[in-house]
Amino acid sequence: MTGAVQIRPVVSADIAEASALHREILDMEFLARCGPAFMRAYYRAWVEAPGAIALVARGASGELLGALLGATDPATHVRAMVRQSGARLVVHLALYAAGHPAFARELVVSRGRRYLRGVARLVGSRLSRPREAPGEDRGPRVGEVTHVLVRADRQGSGVGRALLDAAVAAGRAAELDELVLVTPPDLAAGGFYRHLGWRADGEVTSRSDEAFVRYRYLLRGGGRGDGGNPPGPR
Ligand SMILES: CC(C)(COP(=O)(O)OP(=O)(O)OC[C@H]1O[C@@H](n2cnc3c(N)ncnc32)[C@H](O)[C@@H]1OP(=O)(O)O)[C@@H](O)C(=O)NCCC(=O)NCCS
Repeated sequence: MTGAVQIRPVVSADIAEASALHREILDMEFLARCGPAFMRAYYRAWVEAPGAIALVARGASGELLGALLGATDPATHVRAMVRQSGARLVVHLALYAAGHPAFARELVVSRGRRYLRGVARLVGSRLSRPREAPGEDRGPRVGEVTHVLVRADRQGSGVGRALLDAAVAAGRAAELDELVLVTPPDLAAGGFYRHLGWRADGEVTSRSDEAFVRYRYLLRGGGRGDGGNPPGPR
């Protein structure tokens, strides 16, 4: 039942609504607890950084059904995001933490040191000369899907599949070799990814010490460009 679903890149006018839906649907994530203003700034920063995959799904009447974030070159994307919007994000986070002591404690305990190092790097990069562009990297080109979410009352009607198909198409258009994503081991979404042909590839631990299962989706197989995944049943 995907006929009435339109998938398209996120534009400015989508940001408030998509970031609010993200906070609602992925409320188990730390990101969703960082406050609405931070979340809007985060979406804007994501979309504005080069190499973003940022998609919304809208229904026949234009209603928002879901969203997906990812990147075709995650390392370059996050560096650009920090350089372009890091200061704004830090201010939003600090303001929210100032008014929410429980969140502030969680922020300091789980991410304080790492974020402080990030701020120091941000300040350092602003003071120093820009680094030379890296030489051609001959390793596999791996993109990432970081968030997929569908409105609760439209889950199970093909919207998630349509979003992921569009992310896979974006990965192919960017000539990537594969896409990866991680998901908490206890989340039902693992079954969804496996159903769509993503392969579980072991557990990873985030820098904030959270466990995730990693999934891979090959976009090219043995140089044939035909992918190495079992087709996702319909
Ligand atoms: C996970 C999520 C994105 C899936 O989107 P969705 O729109 O509900 O899924 P779809 O209807 O497109 O499902 C596509 C196919 O996957 C199957 N599927 C969906 N969830 C599944 C699951 N948990 N296990 C196995 N298969 C599943 C569907 O049956 C469907 O199969 P079919 O096309 O062969 O009939 C959505 O349910 C969601 O937003 N959940 C809450 C947020 C979340 O967990 N996000 C992922 C964070 S990592």
